[in-house]
Amino acid sequence: MFVFDQPSAMQQWSDTQRRAGHIVAFVPTMGALHDGHLALVADARRRADLVVVSIFVNPLQFDVRDDFARYPRPIDDDLHACRGAGVDAVYAPTADAMYPAGFQTHVQPGPLADVLEGAHRPGHFEGVTTVVTKLFGAVRPHVAVFGQKDFQQLAIIRRMTCDLDLGVEIIAHPTVRESDGLAMSSRNRRLLPAQREAAGCVSQALDLAVHRFNAGDRDAAALVQLANSHIDAEPLARREYMAMVDPDTLAPVEPAFERALLATAVWFDEVRLIDNVVLGI
Ligand code: PAF
Repeated sequence: MFVFDQPSAMQQWSDTQRRAGHIVAFVPTMGALHDGHLALVADARRRADLVVVSIFVNPLQFDVRDDFARYPRPIDDDLHACRGAGVDAVYAPTADAMYPAGFQTHVQPGPLADVLEGAHRPGHFEGVTTVVTKLFGAVRPHVAVFGQKDFQQLAIIRRMTCDLDLGVEIIAHPTVRESDGLAMSSRNRRLLPAQREAAGCVSQALDLAVHRFNAGDRDAAALVQLANSHIDAEPLARREYMAMVDPDTLAPVEPAFERALLATAVWFDEVRLIDNVVLGI
């Protein structure tokens, strides 16, 4: 497995592979790899000859400095997991290689970034679109695989890739969950045991809304309220938002909607978890 920490070395390798006719698939990550990431790698592997994983904790997308400082960085374990998963190359740039002195260009997303996570984390998605553009520029993949847990991120990256003609096929991979339904996330490892147990309430709340929707209820406010009350009944959980929106536009759903995204962010002390479900697929 190759490990590159400079964009030029990454580009050179990728260009050589592309010239040889190989299809390159890419899984961008911030490391602290878990089974959810490995499922993205397996998906990428099915679609390409070669798989590249990037590991970079991107300072631009953290709105809270503390969260950036505390983000786990187990690089040796991550490289080991990549080797085990048959990854062909890891791109793990240093912060200086990514954002050298004089760096000043940012990619500004459109209105898809103004709601849900964007409304609560100013500047977050501009950090994501900027780093993903740079990662695409270094890795030069044909295909990139993103998890649906970050549904809004995926929608914004799809839009950006199309708007800026980046020429990368964007693949959505379903959210991978623990046995109690908790969506896999690198942040889960920061939960204390009692918080970890309580965190199951997030996916349970979404499931309650799914069942009510599947039984024919189309009252968006009532579905949101049902999910809210389940989370609010958990003393260790502090709900930041719960919103039901159109999955394509992320605008509020129309009355008698047939498809919707129900998305939430919930705090467990200092750990912020997000999750979502699409109703009507
Ligand atoms: O989803 C993530 O882990 C990050 O937002 C990404 C796409 C790797 C960009 O830093």
